[in-house]
Amino acid sequence: MSNANKTLRSQGWFGKQDRDGFMHRSWVKNQGYPDDLFDGRPVIGICNTWSELTPCNGHFRELAEFVKRGVYEAGGFPLEFPVMSLGETQLRPTAMLFRNLASMDVEESIRGNPIDGVVLLMGCDKTTPSLLMGAASCNLPTIGLSGGPMLNGKFRGKDVGSGTGVWMMSEMVRGGKMSMEEFVASESCMHRSKGSCMTMGTASTMASMVEALGMSLPENAAIPAVDSRRNRLAQLTGRRIVDMVKEDLTMSKILTREAFENAIRVNAAIGGSTNAVIHLLALAGRIGVPLTLDDWDRLGREMDCLVNLQPSGQYLMEDFYYAGGLPAVIREISGVLHANTVSANGKSIVENSANAPCYNREVIRPHAEPFKPDAGIAVLKGNLAPDGAVIKPSAATPALMTHTGRAVVFEDIDDYHARIDDPELDVDEHCVLVLKNCGPRGYPGMAEVGNMQLPPKVLQKGITDMVRISDARMSGTAYGTVVLHTSPEAAIGGPLALVRNGDMIELDVPGRRLHLHVSDAELARRREQWVAPEQPSRGWYHLYVKHVQQAHLGADLDFLVGSSGAAVPRESH
Ligand code: FES
Repeated sequence: MSNANKTLRSQGWFGKQDRDGFMHRSWVKNQGYPDDLFDGRPVIGICNTWSELTPCNGHFRELAEFVKRGVYEAGGFPLEFPVMSLGETQLRPTAMLFRNLASMDVEESIRGNPIDGVVLLMGCDKTTPSLLMGAASCNLPTIGLSGGPMLNGKFRGKDVGSGTGVWMMSEMVRGGKMSMEEFVASESCMHRSKGSCMTMGTASTMASMVEALGMSLPENAAIPAVDSRRNRLAQLTGRRIVDMVKEDLTMSKILTREAFENAIRVNAAIGGSTNAVIHLLALAGRIGVPLTLDDWDRLGREMDCLVNLQPSGQYLMEDFYYAGGLPAVIREISGVLHANTVSANGKSIVENSANAPCYNREVIRPHAEPFKPDAGIAVLKGNLAPDGAVIKPSAATPALMTHTGRAVVFEDIDDYHARIDDPELDVDEHCVLVLKNCGPRGYPGMAEVGNMQLPPKVLQKGITDMVRISDARMSGTAYGTVVLHTSPEAAIGGPLALVRNGDMIELDVPGRRLHLHVSDAELARRREQWVAPEQPSRGWYHLYVKHVQQAHLGADLDFLVGSSGAAVPRESH
């Protein structure tokens, strides 16, 4: 339904000819805006996560200016506003602890202000889900614009990828194959331009999800941050949101069940991050679309990875864009995508990508000759994970996908740091490393520590992967045979809490099984002895642990699930 003849929401503020209207208009006019901007044209909120403490989004003030150009050109009135920005590499204890808090900031900033449509400026990992989730709770016409990836890292003549290169080189240092001086020298070479991590880590995965869900214009995922075409996209995004308001193209019309199913399949085809599982489950919860962990397994099964990008492969996001970017991938898998979705430009992603070219088959493989087969996120269940755990097969070692080994248990992340380098640690490459108390409540915030570094005594043998199991998450730039998001988590007494050194654990990815070879009677005995860890009693930490849901539900706060719309409880001062 068109909004053309409807009075816009912002007129509830700016359109009043009374004392309230005076206050709403007059204070905004202190910034020099002429009278006609308040005449009933669409007011577009530009939700900005710029922050120098979120370096991946450090160029967003410039990007916002291009959005404003587009909004003015289309006859709208742009008003930019800041929201809490989450810098993945700076925030302690983990940016994920604040995803839901930032989403509340976004939701209330949109709902409480005279806004008809929203542009979401997103980049660094958590800034994308927090903005999508908050905006979904308001359900206004909304369009996403990602900040774009950094240029490829270059170190001593070779490409080095964000995160992936760090994990790789730090293991080389620990294994005595690289000096600390060389490692430090690579710092300014890895990250040499504006933008987000240029591997297919969580930021690039989530930017791809924004495009695959239909929440942005085509090509949003991969245009490098410093490429002038990113600014052009920003300007076109500004133009488009004005029309979306006129068409009343709200988020819930884009974020349908079919759109989520498309995004899950695209995630498999790009070898995307396991973090997308949690963020999309949470987003679906906000917009009222039923989506479960089992959907991820079902829809990802038989999906191949077509994209040869780190951490699963070799290349980086700059190469991906020059090869054709996400539209080229969508075109390749269009046969398994729903064609009846609507994206931000009013067409389906399948229609948008129908003629998308591919310029480099090394980077984006054809559907018939995939880069890696069976690459969808696998969901494991068993007595160790009754509600599920996930693994990313495309980043794992094929020989370890079926493996039974002796558990080497770390009670929490401090215990892990204290003992992993100990030459006396009783461990070899056949063991299974188990890390407890790093889930949503346990850490708290579910940190990205699931890809535990291997013990030096194993690395020194030239071994680079072992089976690792935890209730934590893993950086999207990481790799390895790493079982994550084990649910229920150890801190609430999930079976993970009961694992002891020497227990045998069976991982069977093809059979989707994660089994602890300990009898039910013995587990019951251990449960009686289990003592719950202490929980924080103050501030946000307290509110968070009291209300956060488990990983298999998306780790949203229980009272934020379900869209509540854009109506304001009280309309005047
Ligand atoms: Fe910001 Fe990777 S740290 S995108």
